[in-house]
Amino acid sequence: MTSATSGRGQWSSQLGFVLAAAGSAVGLGNIWRFPYVAGESGGGAFVLVYLVCVAFIALPVMLLEISLGRATQKNPVGAFLAVRPGTSWRYLGYLALVTGLGILSYYAVIAGKVAAYCVSYGQTLVQGGAHPYHGTSLSTVVFFAVFLVLTVLVVVGGVQRGIERWSKILMPLLVVTMLGIILRGLFLPGSMAGVQWFLTPDFTKIDGRVVLNAMAQAFFSLSLGMGAMLTYGSYLSKRQDILRCGVWVVVFDTLIAILAGLMIFPAVFALGQNPAAGTTLIFQVLPEVFAKMAGGTGIAILFFFLLSVAALTSTVSLLEVVTAYFVDELSWPRSRAVWVVGGATFIVGIPSALDMAGVAPYSSLTLVGKTGFFAVMDFLWGNLSLALGSLMLCLFGIFVWGLHRAAAEIESSAPFFSSLSGTWRFFVRWVCPLSIAVILATLFGL
Ligand code: PFF
Repeated sequence: MTSATSGRGQWSSQLGFVLAAAGSAVGLGNIWRFPYVAGESGGGAFVLVYLVCVAFIALPVMLLEISLGRATQKNPVGAFLAVRPGTSWRYLGYLALVTGLGILSYYAVIAGKVAAYCVSYGQTLVQGGAHPYHGTSLSTVVFFAVFLVLTVLVVVGGVQRGIERWSKILMPLLVVTMLGIILRGLFLPGSMAGVQWFLTPDFTKIDGRVVLNAMAQAFFSLSLGMGAMLTYGSYLSKRQDILRCGVWVVVFDTLIAILAGLMIFPAVFALGQNPAAGTTLIFQVLPEVFAKMAGGTGIAILFFFLLSVAALTSTVSLLEVVTAYFVDELSWPRSRAVWVVGGATFIVGIPSALDMAGVAPYSSLTLVGKTGFFAVMDFLWGNLSLALGSLMLCLFGIFVWGLHRAAAEIESSAPFFSSLSGTWRFFVRWVCPLSIAVILATLFGL
């Protein structure tokens, strides 16, 4: 590890990076958001468009973001300044930091609720009776705070001791647990209808809204457009292969989203539930599903535990991005940076927590066409800001850094990339920025 010389951490191995970056990518976005958006957008058709967006838009942006991180070995603000010192490109870095804090502030609320369900099912197992969690405003805020503290503790551990070690243990555990739940669900009579609904595209269902949802979901799910992959890439050594890492992260993330669909929809169909139930798919429909299953309490504990784990590796990356800025640029001690940012996030997140608990006026607030503080935050930071950040990153690559430099950075550790470089540059120059610009225009109703 080179931290003694540079003062920054570095991944001990390529696998460490892949697991940590996949840990950032895989989270509530895959297991809670992907199924509910797919459920609302018609199932198989959405899945197909999502796969196209991931392969042709998100993957090229992912390679650009990781390569900028590795080339500069900096946090988002430092990276833009390293390429073009003293310019306003630093504001793109600040946008990344604010977006990270913004997403973390509501993401940790849902993560806290997931953890609360896990604890509550644990109580049911020990004491008997029904799953008792109702989510008062106090308990929602408390579980949100607990989840933030857990995140802070992992991030204080630093790159190797904290993030990498935890990802190495928890990610494989996640996959094994999911496979177990899928198998269990497939044995329910009638579950095949769910598999078919989820995997067979009905082309008549593909419209502008489906494409929009799929693209926004791809950025969110792959943690793109706010410097998370840039920051994680900055801990890569020059020998480690960006191409291979990027492709692995994308494949792994996509696989988990598909597994999440296979975990939820067969059960939903077998038990006659509505796949388009929206954000409640996991919180209201699934407990009913578990209640009807033999051994359902145990399965519920596993499910909500694995979802908490997946969320934790994502909240860790969100907090790490902002922390890296304070440590690198302002020379703050790591633990002070983490606690201060964690505290600020808690304050910003309280209205989202009160919305989740149904407290007015937070739950009735209507802004930018969304109702509820939580939905407004998700739209502003999770959709708008990530798309804007990815678009600006492409423009930075095209006009400032130079895509040939980015390609050279990737090629230096993956000589094979030379044969793909032209195609990649075409996508980053034309396909990605134009399609993102069209989405942004649609979001603004242009
Ligand atoms: N990719 C995470 C998920 O799918 O749950 C969410 C996320 C993490 C978004 C980190 C953005 C980010 F920088």
